[in-house]
Amino acid sequence: MGHKIKTAVLVSGGGTNLQALIDAQRDGSITSAEIALVISNQKDVYALKRAEAAGIPHETVLRRELGSREAFEGKIVSLLEANGIELIVLAGFLAILSEDFTRRYDHRILNIHPSLIPSFCGEGYYGLRVHEAALARGVKVTGATVHFVNEIPDGGEIILQKAVPVEAGDTPEVLQRRVMEQAEWQLLPMAVEKVAGQWLAGEGRA
Ligand code: GAR
Repeated sequence: MGHKIKTAVLVSGGGTNLQALIDAQRDGSITSAEIALVISNQKDVYALKRAEAAGIPHETVLRRELGSREAFEGKIVSLLEANGIELIVLAGFLAILSEDFTRRYDHRILNIHPSLIPSFCGEGYYGLRVHEAALARGVKVTGATVHFVNEIPDGGEIILQKAVPVEAGDTPEVLQRRVMEQAEWQLLPMAVEKVAGQWLAGEGRA
């Protein structure tokens, strides 16, 4: 196997979506991309332990230590460049990236969001809050979306979506878990393989 798309995964928390990517790489369902770097914007999160256990280089970049957003994003860019990263996956990464950053990596950043965009998305909708909002609205179907990241929070081109039923008596935690199990952990590896595979096919033709 020749070139694989060098991929960085950006995280902020538990890293179950990162784990899904690591597992997909191991079981051969991702062959076009290679997870070459994990970056966390939070100290000591479980996602970093998952990276460590998988032998993947990992870094922590703290906004409050760096001061400005420019310095924070500048540090991330320097790590991405030093590691030759071509594709960036936001997997539960809860910082919003500036337009300078998203333009630099146009159609090279993927995000997973735990709803069917355009429902329950945009600034302020992250993690459990998304599921709280879905339950408050009384929707009977929710799901997850993988999309390219542009300057509009959760506004970039949609790559894959999967629907998940809401069930009577769901709490936000129960619904979050079902959306992860039935949608997110399948969708994110599929989307990474799809995008990376298309790039490699394009390179092959060039
Ligand atoms: C996931 O449900 C992900 O979709 C969500 O945060 C969780 C992270 O879990 N992301 C957002 O809400 C982005 N707006 P993980 O750290 O276990 O992958």
